[in-house]
Amino acid sequence: MTARIIDGSAIASEIRAGLKQRVQALVARGVRPGLAAILIGDNPASEVYVRNKTRACAEAGVHSELHRFGAGCPEREVIELISRLNADAAIHGILVQLPLPPQLDAEHILQTVAAGKDVDGFNWSNLGAIVAGHPRLVPCTPLGIMTMLEREGIAVEGRNAVVLGRSVIVGKPMALMLIARGATVTVCNSKTRDLREHTLRADILIAAVGRPGFVDGSMLKSGAVVIDVGINRLPGGKLTGDVDFASASQAASRITPVPGGVGRMTIAMLIANTVTAAERIAAV
Ligand code: GUN
Repeated sequence: MTARIIDGSAIASEIRAGLKQRVQALVARGVRPGLAAILIGDNPASEVYVRNKTRACAEAGVHSELHRFGAGCPEREVIELISRLNADAAIHGILVQLPLPPQLDAEHILQTVAAGKDVDGFNWSNLGAIVAGHPRLVPCTPLGIMTMLEREGIAVEGRNAVVLGRSVIVGKPMALMLIARGATVTVCNSKTRDLREHTLRADILIAAVGRPGFVDGSMLKSGAVVIDVGINRLPGGKLTGDVDFASASQAASRITPVPGGVGRMTIAMLIANTVTAAERIAAV
């Protein structure tokens, strides 16, 4: 079997076109959605992610502003900025780019973002809302993956889904969202024993471990749907996922590429969450 590629770039483009229309409807009512990005330190990957996010805002007609801090900045200054942005009527979404420098308490900082402006969905009240089955703003990567599965007509209910990775950003919310759609979900991590026994049962496999080539074709059930969340930079500079694409695409029925897969969806969902937040705030 040779897998069909799930084209994240094409799906994300369609979604962004739809978002432009929602932005225009808001602008007609006097509301331009606004996103504030906070970038702390000089992590080169974070620089690229934030640049891509602000570029996507401009393309959708969303106002964006970038707030930068040096790597050694005190936590108090970041919290003060977030408090100001929480109260700023021109800002509907706030994102703090991760990872943060080690002297900063990421959990504390993320919890100060107002729940209604938390477009990353990392605030505990937004994460708890997923657990309760009443999602509000949800993390962009798992939201992008659910949207991809839906757009591709991939059934979730009753199927075995295996999530590799248990992060708050991807693995845990992903598992909860798959549970909500009726999948039988197994969450594995880097210490899972006999990993292959789990992956070989997966109708849908989500790889989010951050290790290049962690999953290969011999670990897959024939015909599985493989979603690769990994964005790993190899020593030569090439980007690669968590899945060995060459062997996996011989076993899978559908597979996402890296780049051009999940990453594009994540950025589209950030814009979607910002527009949703603006629509909710404007409706009040
Ligand atoms: N760093 C890696 N992924 C993400 C993400 O989805 N949001 C933010 N804010 N930082 C990240």
